[in-house]
Amino acid sequence: LKPRQAAIEKALAEVLRSSTTEAPPILVEAIGYSLLAPGKRLRPMLCILACEACGGTMAQAIPSACALEMIHAYSLIHDDLPAMDDDDLRRGLPTCHIKYGEALAILAGDALQALAFETVCRGYEPKTATVLCLELAQGSGAAGMVGGQVLDLIADGRIKGMLPQGSETSQLEAIHARKTGALFRSSLRLGKLAAQGERDFGNELNAYAKAFGMLFQVTDDLLDVESTAEVAGKRVNKDAERGKLTCPGLIGVEASRAKAKELADEAIRAANTFGVRGEYLAELARFVLHRDR
Ligand code: IPE
Ligand code: IPE
Ligand code: MG
Ligand code: MG
Ligand code: MG
Repeated sequence: LKPRQAAIEKALAEVLRSSTTEAPPILVEAIGYSLLAPGKRLRPMLCILACEACGGTMAQAIPSACALEMIHAYSLIHDDLPAMDDDDLRRGLPTCHIKYGEALAILAGDALQALAFETVCRGYEPKTATVLCLELAQGSGAAGMVGGQVLDLIADGRIKGMLPQGSETSQLEAIHARKTGALFRSSLRLGKLAAQGERDFGNELNAYAKAFGMLFQVTDDLLDVESTAEVAGKRVNKDAERGKLTCPGLIGVEASRAKAKELADEAIRAANTFGVRGEYLAELARFVLHRDR
């Protein structure tokens, strides 16, 4: 996975440099501060691995991979704002609004979102770009990631005038599936679409996406109760205090660990349906199960 990681870092810096020559330098600085900070790059990695598993090359996936990280970085900047989770530490650094102020942080997020779609449009011929943009919009938008953020904030009481619907278990599944699951699924689908292969691989990727997305969010919830800010690079022990609906909050730490293991096994089984080309997808699921940040 290392060479792919290095390719992602290089491409992100290059795309940012080449697409922002006309932009106000302070805005470019704030965007770069958040985008290039040391994240795990899981979404671009999924995109590349799915592209390869479906018969494509890393080069075909790269513009989509960058776009996904841009959407993710924008979502983190906004997620950390005082109106949302109100956090001051991200990827081991002060959050964007702490460093640059709220106004610039909001605008850096806005610009990153636009830059994501610009990057896809520049990276592919028009027909492919249209399909990729549609997938990215659906995964990140009102019915996907942003919708999930709304459900998350309804559950913790920050969005007033709306009562959460259904049992806590079904609410939690709906939050996880959208706020993080949707963009992971789009990451895999963008990879598949960028590969432009003959076979669809829809079912295989959906099965992997579903398990991987849940696995990721269960382990994210576990980090909040088990990790430290030094290791995780973000504040911990905040979810319960803030009234977030989380997996360990609902079923306890032990049961959440067991659930994570089950989900990882499920993701690995799905990755194996790709044969040798799925090996790295399996490795990524193992990494997420054992991650400490
Ligand atoms: C953290 O995502 C935010 C959630 C979606 C829960 P990551 O754990 O992928 O964050 P980085 O990109 O590595 O910082
Ligand atoms: C954030 O989820 C999901 C996004 C879409 C950004 P969290 O609020 O749980 O992420 P962390 O724990 O702050 O990284
Ligand atoms: Mg949040
Ligand atoms: Mg948060
Ligand atoms: Mg979290």
